[in-house]
Amino acid sequence: MRTAIYPGSFDPITYGHLDIIHRAADVFDKVIVGILKNQAKSPLFDFDERVEMIQEVTKEYPNVEVVSFQGLLIDFTREQKADVIVRGIRAVSDFEYELMMAQTNKQLNPDVETMFLATSAKYSFLSSSTVRELAVFGGDISPFVPDYVREKICEKLEKRRG
Ligand code: PNS
Repeated sequence: MRTAIYPGSFDPITYGHLDIIHRAADVFDKVIVGILKNQAKSPLFDFDERVEMIQEVTKEYPNVEVVSFQGLLIDFTREQKADVIVRGIRAVSDFEYELMMAQTNKQLNPDVETMFLATSAKYSFLSSSTVRELAVFGGDISPFVPDYVREKICEKLEKRRG
């Protein structure tokens, strides 16, 4: 049984993340989407909202689970009895940070491998921060996130505007 962790902030989840999740779900027996809780920056969605949204948009994949975590990714990986960390690489600019993370995690636990999936070309420019910025300024985010997520973003921004 091969279990992979796909970790990230997912604030919000985009089609780029979903592309990696469904491809990882084809390769591994189980994929755990791990939502990092220990960020300093003020998020658009809290962790429970992110868990709920990701569960909703991944419900068609029976071998995908969504869990939030605090602390080190490598400890979470051990807790979940996973042996692989999956990360998407969009461009060369992602690579330096991803390599550093993979090597740090390998140093912390040599039994855990990091595997990179090349993001599909049509999502190579896409990020959660781009989606957030577009949404704040009224841009069309429908090509970048599922309808369910787009509606949640609109509700959240409307509430914030009062
Ligand atoms: O979607 P992101 O924000 O690029 O995801 C980054 C994430 C969550 C994978 C990374 O920040 C992380 O693993 N944080 C947990 C803390 C940790 O384990 N740090 C040591 C590895 S360098």
